[in-house]
Amino acid sequence: MIASINTVKSQNPDFLKIIEYGIKAPSGHNTQPWKFKLKEKSIEIHPNLDKTLPVVDGNHRELYISLGCALENICVAASNFGYTSQADILQKDSVYIIEIKLQKTESLKADPLFSQIEKRQTNRSIFKSKMISADTLVMLQRMRTNPNVSMFYYKKGEPEFETLSKYIYTGNEIFYNDKAFRKEVLTWMRFNKKDVLKQNDGLAYNTVGSPSLPKWLGRPIVSSFLTPKKQNKSEEDKIKTTSHFVTFTTNDNTPKGWILTGQSLENYWLHCTELGIAVAFSNQPCESASLASEISKQLPINNELPMLLLRIGYADPMPYSVRKTLKDVIIE
Ligand SMILES: Cc1cc2nc3c(=O)[nH]c(=O)nc-3n(C[C@H](O)[C@H](O)[C@H](O)COP(=O)(O)O)c2cc1C
Repeated sequence: MIASINTVKSQNPDFLKIIEYGIKAPSGHNTQPWKFKLKEKSIEIHPNLDKTLPVVDGNHRELYISLGCALENICVAASNFGYTSQADILQKDSVYIIEIKLQKTESLKADPLFSQIEKRQTNRSIFKSKMISADTLVMLQRMRTNPNVSMFYYKKGEPEFETLSKYIYTGNEIFYNDKAFRKEVLTWMRFNKKDVLKQNDGLAYNTVGSPSLPKWLGRPIVSSFLTPKKQNKSEEDKIKTTSHFVTFTTNDNTPKGWILTGQSLENYWLHCTELGIAVAFSNQPCESASLASEISKQLPINNELPMLLLRIGYADPMPYSVRKTLKDVIIE
């Protein structure tokens, strides 16, 4: 049950501040599929099953990845407010929740990634045609992931980069020919500022490069762009300016593995933000079970399933996505 304003106000103010940063995590279609429960010495992240994406994420894989991203933000932010954190993933009936035990610790050094949480964003623009240097790539490749999670890089021009591009185009063919998928995307599109601020979630017009339009006009116009041909044309322009594709894979294809993948993703993304590297998704092949399994056989990724496919490079910042407020996401 969503907590009353008075209950929210009576909670540990440090924990509330920490959760403010959890909320800034990325999530599929900006659904923000989380709820937070405050305990005396811990914060729990619960899935919000009213915010699922049944078509593109029927098994809640991306939902749990999003919860893992919120987990990472909470751990990083906790250090800034003087708390060490220790997370456990617990199964309760058919759902998984994350319990983060927090302990106030004197003279704890804040995680330097803290200042990147507010700067991180999904950048869906056409990037600048600038490659990531070999030295920077080495730094990226050294970054830690959780056990069972791996990352692989594909440089533009390499055969695997071309293979992945083809899978992205095929993924667009599959999804944008699917009426249910298009309907789901439209449900989460927000066509103008008023529409954005009504629910403080979803894909805002300015973050996907659309003009602000009244909903009655925006909906048919955006709908007319949701075709495989138009999406692949736009994708082609984006791929041309991509420096590298990055896949995240796991050998633990369970909600626990997905949460740990999300935590690694967010940690990586904050590092990229620090280095001025733009991150966007070309996730379609991972969202199709058959394409994901083909990729697993075709690319040298230890026969693991690709969970996420990112494109990285350099770009000017885009407008930021909105978030719900604390009172919408705290439960009793
Ligand atoms: C698991 C996951 C999957 C995502 N898939 C896509 C995707 O396929 N295409 C896309 O443009 N963005 C994708 N995103 C990015 C979200 O749309 C984005 O995080 C959200 O709109 C909030 O924006 P922000 O990241 O700029 O804060 C995904 C994010 C997550 C966490």
